[in-house]
Amino acid sequence: MGAAAPALISRPRPEAVWRPLTSTPMAAADVGQVIELLRAAPQTAYCEWEDAALLRGHLSHSADLCRVVRDGSGRVVAALIAGSFGVRGSISHAVVAPGHRRSGLARVMATDALAAFRRRGVRRVALAVLDGNPAAAALWTRAGFSPVHGERTYECDL
Ligand SMILES: CC(C)(COP(=O)(O)OP(=O)(O)OC[C@H]1O[C@@H](n2cnc3c(N)ncnc32)[C@H](O)[C@@H]1OP(=O)(O)O)[C@@H](O)C(=O)NCCC(=O)NCCS
Repeated sequence: MGAAAPALISRPRPEAVWRPLTSTPMAAADVGQVIELLRAAPQTAYCEWEDAALLRGHLSHSADLCRVVRDGSGRVVAALIAGSFGVRGSISHAVVAPGHRRSGLARVMATDALAAFRRRGVRRVALAVLDGNPAAAALWTRAGFSPVHGERTYECDL
């Protein structure tokens, strides 16, 4: 009889261990990485005046509405920025790092942000999608949003 074959022990690598996909409230320490992600994605229409100081101030009252997803090393790979003036809600930006797209990260951030709005009593949320961004249009349609017919968005730079 030959030597017994060595037992095969399967030990998943730490990064391969299943973890539920969750987003967490954005922290002030995340802001630098969030801005990097937004700058790298022109479809978000990020403006430079939305700087770290402004975003950190926003988080002091809206961290539950602003979500991030981190990779196994803790790096922020997806972010969503939202706010409310108490009655209506607004989602300003959503971005997922290119290497992490189509894995449900935007969907989980959207679900968690909408749940946070509901907890605050907000029952209507608006957002804008640039023409020619079918990924964003599909994302928000799947999340329950519909285009508003007969309305135009007006805005004013200060
Ligand atoms: C739009 C964006 C945030 C989507 O992020 P994502 O994590 O890849 O999206 P998800 O994997 O959660 O997909 C959720 C749904 O969105 C839709 N979707 C996402 N990417 C899509 C694509 N490239 N084409 C078509 N539909 C897409 C699908 O309906 C998808 O659901 P499904 O996988 O069950 O079909 C991401 O592509 C991105 O960061 N783009 C650049 C920045 C941007 O456009 N931001 C939006 C500004 S409003």
